[in-house]
Amino acid sequence: MMAAMLLMACSNSHQLKSPDGRLSVRFSLTDEGEPRYEVEKDGKAIIAASEMGFILDKGDFTRGFTLKDASLTSHDETWETTWGEEQFIRDHHNQLAVTLQHESGYLMRIVFRAFDDGLAFRYEWPENEGEQTEFTLLDEVTAFHFVNEPQAWSIPWTTEYYEALWSKEPISGQALRDTVCAPITLEWADQPIHYGFLHEAAIYDYPASNYYYADGAVRTYLTPWLNADRQRLADKAYLHCGSTTPWRMLILTESLPEMVASRIMLNLNEPCAIEDPSWCKPMKFIGIWWGMHLESMTWHQGPKHGATTANMKRYLEFAAEHGFGGVLAEGWNDGWQFWGTDHNDFKYDVPFDDYDIDFLAAHARSLGVQIVGHNETGGEAGDYEQHLDDAFAYAQKYGIHSIKTGYVSPIIATIDGRQLNKGQSGVRHYRKVIETAAKYQVCIDNHEPVMPSGIQRTYPNLFTQEGVRGQEWNAWSKDGGSPCEHVTVLPFTRIMAGPVDYTPGVFHFENPIIPGTRVHATLMNQLGLFVCFYSPLQMACDLPESYMEHPDAFTFIEHVPCDWKQSRLLSGVIGDYCVFARQDRNSDNWYVGGITDENPRSYSLQFDFLEPDATYSATIYRDAADADWNTNPYAYEIETMDVDCTTTLDLNMASGGGFAIELLKK
Ligand code: NOJ
Repeated sequence: MMAAMLLMACSNSHQLKSPDGRLSVRFSLTDEGEPRYEVEKDGKAIIAASEMGFILDKGDFTRGFTLKDASLTSHDETWETTWGEEQFIRDHHNQLAVTLQHESGYLMRIVFRAFDDGLAFRYEWPENEGEQTEFTLLDEVTAFHFVNEPQAWSIPWTTEYYEALWSKEPISGQALRDTVCAPITLEWADQPIHYGFLHEAAIYDYPASNYYYADGAVRTYLTPWLNADRQRLADKAYLHCGSTTPWRMLILTESLPEMVASRIMLNLNEPCAIEDPSWCKPMKFIGIWWGMHLESMTWHQGPKHGATTANMKRYLEFAAEHGFGGVLAEGWNDGWQFWGTDHNDFKYDVPFDDYDIDFLAAHARSLGVQIVGHNETGGEAGDYEQHLDDAFAYAQKYGIHSIKTGYVSPIIATIDGRQLNKGQSGVRHYRKVIETAAKYQVCIDNHEPVMPSGIQRTYPNLFTQEGVRGQEWNAWSKDGGSPCEHVTVLPFTRIMAGPVDYTPGVFHFENPIIPGTRVHATLMNQLGLFVCFYSPLQMACDLPESYMEHPDAFTFIEHVPCDWKQSRLLSGVIGDYCVFARQDRNSDNWYVGGITDENPRSYSLQFDFLEPDATYSATIYRDAADADWNTNPYAYEIETMDVDCTTTLDLNMASGGGFAIELLKK
């Protein structure tokens, strides 16, 4: 690590350059004391002078500033992840920190960081001696005046739990005029920048951002607080001197593989806060789950109850036989009898009487498999908060190291009353859950979350999150299921924000109970997802009996890891297809996955990412020539051949198809 500090003369304009010198950020104050920043790449303007600052209850903090001091530092460090897509990550950036004094006397600091592949900044409010330290934030005015208009992939800000199909439009189009959620993925036709990813890192005590387009710029709309009648308040955040905002970050790259490889978000988060996180062990799991979404099982007790002792015993034994680390049981606890009513009363330490947890925990232990817990709250976040210690102590007692949490309710009942889950109160709740879980060595899979922002670096017990239109929509969605394109958009949008609990791996596509809806994929596409979609807690979602219909293809799911030494996008077009290669963290083996939209395509795979002078035994799982998601999804071929770094392999992906390859080093 290297840090050089240079105190600068207090002119009203300061420039920061990325370590390679190609990206530059200029900060300035206008004559009215308004903060502005501009961004260039290779001397070409990317963002023109853009507004910064806030409207606070204490006044207008978008103007009236003078510059007190400015300092430049640089940082170069390589750190090891607890788990992830990469084992080692380099954090190489230069930083400019400007301290501003507002005409009211208050101080505000803006810290900029320039990386080779993007930039970030955040606002900080230093302690103000002798002043009242608490304040209410009414608006953040941060703007992004893109010089050339990009296309933006986005979902509407009002989307419940971020579960929507992403669409692409120019930033001045209707989607952004109506307001969208963070993040957005940007595409430009012109050089030197083709791709951008606008998001935020390290949200801890602040509302999640949304964006809208007005007066030539993308602007920030913070998720508001609600009043007792669930109307939106002008109040966005309650802060104090000593608070910081999350980092506003923008990845800017020439190519899609570079955008996907950017680790700016993790670098902007703080190092691991858990002293020994070795208990945060990635694993694949199966679960008593898909049956409920197919409506062949129920969460509540009755003739179709899924989480019975006998069923769970069968799943645990199946998991042990096929190398899975865990089994999720949903519908194991008291409270599900009220599901679907407006009365939620979940108990987090009371099993149903047909679920013998003492027996099952002992059986799981003897098989070397973990039970994955489930705490659905029905949106009763405040009540859950009262029971967190009990819930996690109970989990610890039964050897449960991972819990899937859930907040199904468009507005959650936090300790501050009914609030939007991505407002400040919801954000605080999720943080409390993660911090409390860590005390009991419990990892979290958060459903209905706030959009991920990289805090898994600091709390690696935050394994994964939903926040996506996941596989379950393919069981019951009235629109028939997600179009083939959806999975080819997600790696470049939602999954750029962090690990996703999408639940890949459907092996049986017909459902007589909901016949109009199904997965728009071939079986090989479902295998490809295990490499293309990253999650350290990765579910194989289908029923054991479905997997036994295609045991040879299931071998890939049994073998594929979910913790990686290195990862790369080999090729892709957002919304068309993608091909990822990842190296296992615990061996020299590689895994490749490809998926396509409704268009069949051929792909020439070059193995030049493999170690030179080494031979690998490749098992290739691919669509047969006549495969098609709609008419023939089960047609596939499996072949084994030796390959090395000079080999090229021509592969065909069917409509809605894909492929998966395991490469074992010889
Ligand atoms: C919605 C979640 O996404 C799903 O996975 C879960 O089964 C249900 N809520 C019930 O908790």
